[in-house]
Amino acid sequence: MSNYHIKQFEEYFQVYRKSVRNPEQFWEEIAEEHFTWKKRWSNVLSYDFKKAEFKWFEDAKLNITENCIDRHLHTRGDKTALLFEPNNPNDEAEHITYKQLHERVCKFANVLKDKGIKKGDVVCIYLPMIPELAISVLACARIGAIHSVIFAGFSSTAVSSRVNDCNAKMVITSDGSYRGSKTIDLKGIVDEALNDTPGIESVLVVNRINSGVYMKEDRDVWIQPLLDDASAVCNAEIMDAEDPLFILYTSGSTGKPKGMVHTIGGYMVYTAYTFKNVFQYREDDIYWCTADIGWITGHSYIVYGPLANGATSVMFEGVPSYPDYGRFWDIVEKHKISQFYTAPTAIRALAKQGAEFVEKYDLSSLKVLGSVGEPINEEAWHWYDENVGKKKSPIVDTWWQTETGGIMITPIPFSTPTKPTYATLPFIGVQPALMDESGKELKGNQVEGRLCIKFPWPSMARTIWGNHQRYKDTYFSAYDNMYFTGDGALRDEVGYYRITGRVDDVIIVSGHNLGTAPIEDAINEHPAVSESAIVGFPHDVKGNALYGYVTLKDVGESRNHDNLRMEINQLITDRIGPIAKLDKIQFTEALPKTRSGKIMRRILRKIAANEVDQLGDTSTLLNPEVVQSIIDNVK
Ligand code: WT7
Repeated sequence: MSNYHIKQFEEYFQVYRKSVRNPEQFWEEIAEEHFTWKKRWSNVLSYDFKKAEFKWFEDAKLNITENCIDRHLHTRGDKTALLFEPNNPNDEAEHITYKQLHERVCKFANVLKDKGIKKGDVVCIYLPMIPELAISVLACARIGAIHSVIFAGFSSTAVSSRVNDCNAKMVITSDGSYRGSKTIDLKGIVDEALNDTPGIESVLVVNRINSGVYMKEDRDVWIQPLLDDASAVCNAEIMDAEDPLFILYTSGSTGKPKGMVHTIGGYMVYTAYTFKNVFQYREDDIYWCTADIGWITGHSYIVYGPLANGATSVMFEGVPSYPDYGRFWDIVEKHKISQFYTAPTAIRALAKQGAEFVEKYDLSSLKVLGSVGEPINEEAWHWYDENVGKKKSPIVDTWWQTETGGIMITPIPFSTPTKPTYATLPFIGVQPALMDESGKELKGNQVEGRLCIKFPWPSMARTIWGNHQRYKDTYFSAYDNMYFTGDGALRDEVGYYRITGRVDDVIIVSGHNLGTAPIEDAINEHPAVSESAIVGFPHDVKGNALYGYVTLKDVGESRNHDNLRMEINQLITDRIGPIAKLDKIQFTEALPKTRSGKIMRRILRKIAANEVDQLGDTSTLLNPEVVQSIIDNVK
């Protein structure tokens, strides 16, 4: 018997030991007893850290949509699979049952096929949080197409670079989206993005806001009439466990975003198993994750993990502040949410508005609260615990990454005693290690170092689309035989982990992973700019905000600096999206550099954080004198 559902702390330890002692046997049992396969694997796991090659459930055949939909039809056909809560609270919520989901996914899949999409083709999806987003994702998986969802807050430049990088044949979008009191012209952004994307053959358009958009002949089609005519029968393509399921882009410390590739079998097993245990999901629970499906959290814990368990998963189209800051709690009360999973930045933003927005609502249905995306600070943790959980609902602080596919370090609610700001213990099968800078593993407790994982887990990303070398270099070259996360962490006296933050040039702003390089590239496009460096600094709502140091070509640049700041932020919005805008821009005559010409971000970070007393040794710099001048000019 496998240990699919862990209910006690002692059981966690027992199962954890088993999963580490014999990972292959452990995952084989889980895979065998809880999923539907068309053909069994010949080998549970093969791996080679040097080549960065990992295979789980080799040669097995399956279709993930049969596991997420078809197999529930007999027992849960009339149960709500997706519960759609629209942006406008006066519009009716939509309950999509497993039967209806099956029909809608099959129809959508048939439309994709009619449009020439075949197994292995890449489809980019640029949609707001409406049912068609989840349905199109599943429709791709149904026919073996690889989906690449692009968060609908990204700019046209970001869309076109992703579309070209993954060689997509099709884009699925909508005329526009609702966001609080605003509408956003998504189709216009796509049109601009597709000016220079030779691979795109067609664009399917969902009508969401009834705005008469431009439709390009021979390329753009409204999807609804096609769905109306499509057959509701679509056999699931038989896929290999190691075939790609999706590509999802994430920022790196340098260069362009990395298209992380996740494959089907291991991803399915791990996201389903973590979902069940981390949220202690039970049959009648209503589960709500507030993330957007454009991020990995939405892929794994709105779509695949919940549906693989036959759960009811809520999709919310709107924002936490519309029509007022009580919206989240209004939804919790209205749909009797059992598990609520959100990001620290949302908690901090809501806490700032005061407890009266929470107190108005009946939150007694809540059983488990989750946090993800960045370290949760002590104050936010307690606010969440007291005002939302009424000190009755355990908080699961879940640490993981786009690359890990699923939750890696987390408490198991009602089992693991929680500790504010600690993600606590590794999930089943996860073997963390803390490393020092010389490459030595720090054993024992009360140590702090760089967080690595020293054994493969089923849902790890398998490569970077089109660039396996970069995958190897980024994650497997820092330490031998280990996956390097890019995060720092400490282990306390009982072995609990606390994530201390990125140790590279990735900055987490409001839970969004931003690389400094693309932002700097955008700034440097400005004709007046010579050079720039971005660092993060602490921000009470966003966690981190961005601070840009910019040098101008013409030192005596007479133009108004506030106008320049606006122009720079507009460039960033155009090239990446509003999430990457800078909170502070300081014009400086030079940037501190090492003798080899590398910008010393460490120093810039200290200045941005107003910790100039902790600058450390600056004497080895090429130009130590600029440090003082930057400090003197901080406004
Ligand atoms: C980075 C990954 C995993 C889904 C959302 C973000 C940070 C994530 C936590 C947490 C502290 C966290 C890390 C990680 N992070 N969760 N619970 N505590 N930090 O996915 O965009 O790939 O970002 O987010 O720095 O490396 P992502």
